[in-house]
Amino acid sequence: MQILFKQNLTLDAALIALIFDDQKLPKSIQDISNISQNFLKKKNFFGKEGDLFSTSLINNEKFTTLILVGLGNKNKLNDLTIQKATGMAITELIKTSENLASLITPDTDTDTKTQIDVNAAFAALLTSYKFDKYKTQHTEIKHKNLITLSIITDNQKKTKKAFTPLENLAKGIYSARDFISEPANILFPETFVKKAEKILPQNLEISVLNKNNLAKIGMNMILGVANGSQKDPRLLICKLIGNPKKKNISICIIGKGVCFDSGGLSLKPAQSMEMMKYDMAGAATALGLIQTLALNKANINIVAIIPLVENMPSGNAQKPGDVILSMSGKTVEVLNTDAEGRLILADAITYAQKEFKPETIIDIATLTGAIRISLGSEYAGIFSNDLDLSQKLINAGKKTGEKLWPFPMDDEYNDLLKSDIADIKNIADGGASSITAAKFLENFIEGKTKWAHIDIASVAWENKGKPNTPKGATAFGIKLLNQFISDNYL
Ligand code: BES
Ligand code: MN
Ligand code: ZN
Repeated sequence: MQILFKQNLTLDAALIALIFDDQKLPKSIQDISNISQNFLKKKNFFGKEGDLFSTSLINNEKFTTLILVGLGNKNKLNDLTIQKATGMAITELIKTSENLASLITPDTDTDTKTQIDVNAAFAALLTSYKFDKYKTQHTEIKHKNLITLSIITDNQKKTKKAFTPLENLAKGIYSARDFISEPANILFPETFVKKAEKILPQNLEISVLNKNNLAKIGMNMILGVANGSQKDPRLLICKLIGNPKKKNISICIIGKGVCFDSGGLSLKPAQSMEMMKYDMAGAATALGLIQTLALNKANINIVAIIPLVENMPSGNAQKPGDVILSMSGKTVEVLNTDAEGRLILADAITYAQKEFKPETIIDIATLTGAIRISLGSEYAGIFSNDLDLSQKLINAGKKTGEKLWPFPMDDEYNDLLKSDIADIKNIADGGASSITAAKFLENFIEGKTKWAHIDIASVAWENKGKPNTPKGATAFGIKLLNQFISDNYL
């Protein structure tokens, strides 16, 4: 979708208006239309949050489709209500075959008007995302990319400038969704890195470790998971020194990059394996986030650390019962090769601490199927050794609609990870599998490092499609982490 900020309405095209619950139609609509408040009432449109009225081909009108959505109460307006309302409108627009549309927002004070316009533009981008590069036949699906949406404003310059940070956020989200959607025959560790190098801005320092490099520094858990695959693993490191005056690294973001998770020798049943190309959603999120921060020249020192593997069975694959010497020096008994995410993350956590000594580590991962059992697709799970950190993340989640729910982390859960022959085992004795996965990771956190783990297996893939998150890869976590950083570091 192409977004323009324009002064004048495009006539003979679709018209979208966001309306407060005072039901006042913007002047620009009153000027060209016979639609009245009374008419809208009859149609049960009151401008409340969630209200939608849509019609096409009205006689004698200067537009071919009209879509009205409610913004609710003026005094309760926030970024999220604007994004939700716009998301509903754009979902409706996409159902029509219109490819030109104007969006009219309420006549309010300039600051509020700018807030509405930029959030509407952001939501329009998120809602119109579609991964259709492998559709060779021109179907209506391609239509989404051809829509031009003009947001009507007298303050084009100011609005365009105010939109830039959100536009960069949308770019990061688009990249992440593209990476997650890409099938595993196209996207594997080597090609992930190549594609990443192509999109990342110049102000990032990028380094890549290959199989030999990983062996030299003892990242045996990454190597162990990768062993069964024809595809070699990689460790991708993207560093943003946005605050050179500060000497240390504030945050390391670690994203699980299992480009395909067959389960390995502990093979998954066919149905559970179908979607396992998206087991690198955490990696894509870390990538999209650092891309956004770099584009916005964020004033923070932050490193994305992305372990990339494929988890496959073969004569060379790691076997249930194998004991691996992790980079940390701890030995791990791998009783289930399908609990692979925690293995590669643990080595990445050790690497992050040894290499960068960050104040805070946040890992984001499609780690456990159980998190969806607990939370459905409404929340991701958060696990942390620091209450203040998890509260800040939860708050950022509320603001962005990427909601987090906290899980207990009592030390007693560690007992379930005791191995008979090694320091720790990679699956727990029974129950609490999302928590014990997190406890496993916590075992690799050293000293006073603050750490939070976000399990996105519940939310990384949207099965139905909602405003702002169409069916498919969501890139959950980028909005949330970007908000967390801007609230607490910038
Ligand atoms: N990648 C899966 C988790 C997953 C499941 C992500 C469903 C997205 C949707 C992970 O590697 C895994 O297989 N976890 C196992 C852990 C178990 C063996 C302890 C699980 O959740 O079943
Ligand atoms: Mn697995
Ligand atoms: Zn996995």
